[in-house]
Amino acid sequence: MSAFAYADARFACDRLPLGDIATAVGTPCHVYSAPTIRERYRALDRALGTTPHALHYALKANSTLAVVRLLRTLGAAIDANSGGEVDVALKAGFSPGEIIFTGVGKTPAELERAVGLGLKAINAESPGELARIDAIARRLGTRARVALRVNPDIDAQSHPHISTGLKRNKFGVPLDDAFDVCVDAAGHRGLHLVGVHAHVGSQIMSIDPLARAASTLAALARRLRAAGVPLDHLDVGGGLGISYDGRPAPDVGDYASALVEATREAGVSLILEPGRWLVAPAGALLSTVVDVKGRPGGRRFVVLDAGMTDLLRPALYSAFHRIVPLERDGRPDVACDVVGPVCESSDTFGVDRELPDPRPGDLVAILDTGAYGAVMASNYNRRAIAPEVLVDAGQWQVIRRRQTIDDLLVFES
Ligand SMILES: Cc1ncc(COP(=O)(O)O)c(C=O)c1O
Repeated sequence: MSAFAYADARFACDRLPLGDIATAVGTPCHVYSAPTIRERYRALDRALGTTPHALHYALKANSTLAVVRLLRTLGAAIDANSGGEVDVALKAGFSPGEIIFTGVGKTPAELERAVGLGLKAINAESPGELARIDAIARRLGTRARVALRVNPDIDAQSHPHISTGLKRNKFGVPLDDAFDVCVDAAGHRGLHLVGVHAHVGSQIMSIDPLARAASTLAALARRLRAAGVPLDHLDVGGGLGISYDGRPAPDVGDYASALVEATREAGVSLILEPGRWLVAPAGALLSTVVDVKGRPGGRRFVVLDAGMTDLLRPALYSAFHRIVPLERDGRPDVACDVVGPVCESSDTFGVDRELPDPRPGDLVAILDTGAYGAVMASNYNRRAIAPEVLVDAGQWQVIRRRQTIDDLLVFES
């Protein structure tokens, strides 16, 4: 059951009325349910059963320190996508040996630091990057643990902007070249090839492409072992989708069984990099209606104080998020286009939605914003970054305060 539900007429997170949080903290404001994150992490971990595995939480989904620390208490490890994310992971208490560093354009400084720290693995994107890592490691007198990111040319059937496993996408080494690149890497003094990796996209609503990518990696690992290049792990990435609109989503048990089945023969441990699936349903964005205006055709514009600067997904991917009122007082539903205050027509959260006759001052929640929400915030239009609140054990606390205009100007002369 979702943490976000009505308790009588009031919309609540783990039974705490969200209207009370919005009044105390102000809007816009992100709220997360800690019990939901725990429950989802444990469900995925349990579903993988006795198969040797590690869950490397993809920090890019939500890297607010309190959320990252919560995942650490559950036994998660980390998938970091930039030097900044590596630092956040270290700050949250993870050791370098728990961090995998992925990313399509790692800078020389990022690679130097990653090698120096001795991360669990650097997921290398190209033969050129492997050569750069090798040179750094030899100069530092060490061996860097690396895994090769493979592009398996698999269609994830997700939004084109978040599909990453097709030949035309910029990620990884083409499957046809992967074996030779791995054999070559295994011969370099500065490299210890520990795995192969693929991530074919995000918000994937069918298990099939995820299972096919996993069995492609498993076949590569078997071939490499036969050639005298044994691996420690297969890193199958993240990507499992959630239901944003209430329709059925893939079952986590089926997903885990498919991965285990696809990789069993490889005889190495399994690494997953889940992001969205763990945290998206654990978050909601609270907002206040600031204006309601009629528009030709009878619909009305409902203007919120939250905008694309707080939640970019609708503007970026035409993503759908449910929008619900925080109080139900029996007003009849009317058709609305729910928009933000930013000077862009793409700053629209929902077209032709039914909301109970909205009025300025009403509070609403935009649902399933725990992943790729706050992390994508910007200061466009000089808008301050919204605060974040964590609900746990029947209480709530601010885990990131609201930015002020002074915070925004601090770097300027
Ligand atoms: C390499 C890599 N791993 C993991 C993830 C997490 O994906 P998701 O949030 O869909 O689970 C991403 C996100 O796109 C990614 O690029």
